[in-house]
Amino acid sequence: MAGRIPQEFINDLLEKVDIAEIVGERVELRRAGKEYKGLCPFHGEKTPSFHVVPEKGFYHCFGCGANGTALTFLLEHDRLEFVQAVELLAARAGVEVPREASRVPRDDRRSRLLDVVDRADRWFRQQLRSHPQHARAVDYLRGRGVDGETARTFGLGFAPPGYENLLAGLGGGETLAELLVEAGLLARREDGSTYDRFRDRIVFPIRDGRGRTIAFGGRVLGDGQPKYLNSPETPLFHKGSELYGFFECRRAIRDPARVLLVEGYMDVVGLARAGVPEVCASLGTAATRDHLEKLFRLAPEVVFCFDGDAAGRRAAWKAAQTALDVLQDGVAVRLLFLPEGEDPDSLVRAEGAEAFRARIAGARPLSEYLFEALSADLDLGTLDDRSRLTHRARPLLERVPGTVVRTLLLRRLAELAELPVEALTQGPAGRRDAPAAPPPEAEPAPPPRGAAEGSGERSGTPSRVRWSKEKAATALLLRRPELADRVSEAQRAALEALPGEDAALLRELLARLHERPGSATAVLIAEQLGTPAHDRLVALARRELPLDRGAMEREFDEALARMVEAATGARRSRLLARIRSGEAGPGELEEYLALRRVEAGVPAAGAEAPRAAPAPGSRER
Ligand code: UTP
Ligand code: MN
Repeated sequence: MAGRIPQEFINDLLEKVDIAEIVGERVELRRAGKEYKGLCPFHGEKTPSFHVVPEKGFYHCFGCGANGTALTFLLEHDRLEFVQAVELLAARAGVEVPREASRVPRDDRRSRLLDVVDRADRWFRQQLRSHPQHARAVDYLRGRGVDGETARTFGLGFAPPGYENLLAGLGGGETLAELLVEAGLLARREDGSTYDRFRDRIVFPIRDGRGRTIAFGGRVLGDGQPKYLNSPETPLFHKGSELYGFFECRRAIRDPARVLLVEGYMDVVGLARAGVPEVCASLGTAATRDHLEKLFRLAPEVVFCFDGDAAGRRAAWKAAQTALDVLQDGVAVRLLFLPEGEDPDSLVRAEGAEAFRARIAGARPLSEYLFEALSADLDLGTLDDRSRLTHRARPLLERVPGTVVRTLLLRRLAELAELPVEALTQGPAGRRDAPAAPPPEAEPAPPPRGAAEGSGERSGTPSRVRWSKEKAATALLLRRPELADRVSEAQRAALEALPGEDAALLRELLARLHERPGSATAVLIAEQLGTPAHDRLVALARRELPLDRGAMEREFDEALARMVEAATGARRSRLLARIRSGEAGPGELEEYLALRRVEAGVPAAGAEAPRAAPAPGSRER
C-alpha cells in the first residue's frame, strides 16, 4: 500500500490552489464582489445559487447544500479517485505529493487489543503442538478428518483445560489481564480475579479481512455443553458483521465464481479440507446485510446452504428476505437445501467434493425459490390466488435495490399472475401489511425500513435508497458536516454500543467532527487515506441525497433517533443476559436499571441528564 499523504500537505495545498480557477474551468462562473456565482453543477437549476468563495477556499450551493473545497469538487464533480484528485491539484500548484513512509497506528487501544489477541492466537497454536494433553486435541481433529495442513491453514489451536493458563502463558500482569478481558479471552470474577474463557476446547481463530485474528470460536472435544463458545462482542469483534473463513477463502482462490455461506465452523473447515475452499460461515446467527455485502465482495454469487428440516426452511425464508435488500444488479443468490440430518461437513465427508459440487450446481435461484415459497399454499389456476400472489410479492420485490433485477423479478411475477407487467409497475405497491409468510412457520415480512424511507422526500431521489441508518447518517454528515452539532454527548455515547463496520465508521467521523467542528468533507476523507475506511467514505460521499437542507436535517435526526434506540436496546439485552447468567458485575446491574429508566422516559434521579448508555470504554466487560 502506498504511504499516506500527510494531512498538513493537503491543508497547504488547498490554500495554494485557486478554487475559482478549478471550478471556473468546469462551471460558468460570474464575479459577484469577492465571490463567484453560477448554475450549480450538482442539481438542476435555472437561477444561479452556487457560490464560490476564493478567499475561504470553498464552494456552497444554497439550493442543494452541496459544499466543499477544491478537492471535494474534483471528487464529486469529476468523480476522481482521492489520490488522483490530490495529484491533479498538486500539479496545478507545482508541488510534489509527499508520502509518509508508513502509517502510525491511529488507534492505540485497538492496536494493543489486536496485539494481545495475536499473542493468544499463537499461544493456542503452540498448545496444540506441545501441551501435555495436546494428543487428545489432535486425535479429536484427526477423528473429524482434519489434517495438519488444514489445521495450519485455519490456524486451529488448543485451549488447555484449567482456569488459569492463558494469562500465565503470556507472561501475566494486570495490564495484560485487562486487555485480555477486553478482548474477551478472560472473564472476571466478582472479586476481580480473572479466569480463562476458553478451556479444554479446540479454538478456531476468527480473522478480519486482513487476516488479523480478532476473536475465537471454541469447540468442546467431545459432547460437553455448550458445544461452541464464541468470543463476546468486543471492540474488535461484532458477530453480525464478521464471517468465519472470509480471509482464508480469499487467500485460497482469486475471483471465485461463487461463494458458499454455511452455518458452522466445522462446515467451513471440512469443505475446505475436501477441496471446496470458497466458503464462509455466519457465526451462529442469521445472515445479515453486512454479511451479504461482504460476500459479494468475494464473488458475484452467493449460495446459501440450509438443512432440509423445518428450521432450515425458516432460516432460508429469512435469508431470502435479507438477500432481497442487498440484491444489486450483477449479483445473484441461490439456495441449497441439504438432506435432513446432514450438514455440509458431514455430507462432503460422506460423498466427496465432486458430488457436493454437483449439489451446488443444482442450487435454486432466489427468484425461483421466492415465487415458489410465496405460492406454496396458492392455486395459481384461480384468479383470486393470482391476485394474492401479486399482493404478497410486490412489497418484497420493491425492496430490491438493483433496477434491472427488480424489473426482471416483476416481469416474472407478471407472468405468474397473468398480468401485463405495467399493471405491476404502476400505482402504489401492495399493502404493506399484506406480505405473507408462505412457509407455514416462516416469520412475516417486516415492512422495509431505511433512512430514506417514510420521510416523504422521495421525489428527489430517482432510485429508492435503502441503506443502513449508519450509512445514511454518514453520507449526510459528509455532505453537511455541521449536522454533527445535532448529536448530543449522550447520543454519541449510546452509539458506542452499535455493532458493525458502518457504525464504527460513523463514530469515527463524529469523533473527528467533535474534536474539530466544521472540518471540510475533503479533509475528513483525506485523513482516512490508506485505510479501508477511505474508500467507503468516498463511496458514501458520492451517494445521491435528498436535496433540500430541511429534508437532510430531518433524515439525519430520524436516523440518529433510530440508531440510539437500537443501541440502547442492544446494550440492555446484553446486560440482561449477563445478569441472568450471573456474569454481571455490580456496576452493570445499575447500568441496566438506568437504561430501563431511559427507555421508559424516566429521568435518572439526581442526574442532570439520563445516561443513555455506558461511557465509551466501559462497555463489554
Ligand atoms: P452446529 O451445531 O451446526 O455446528 O452449529 P457444527 O459446526 O456442525 O458443529 P459440529 O462441530 O460439526 O458438531 C452451527 C454453528 O452455530 C454456532 C457455531 O458457530 C456453530 O459452528 N453454535 C453452535 C454456537 O455458537 N454455540 C453452540 O453451542 C452451537
Ligand atoms: Mn457439523
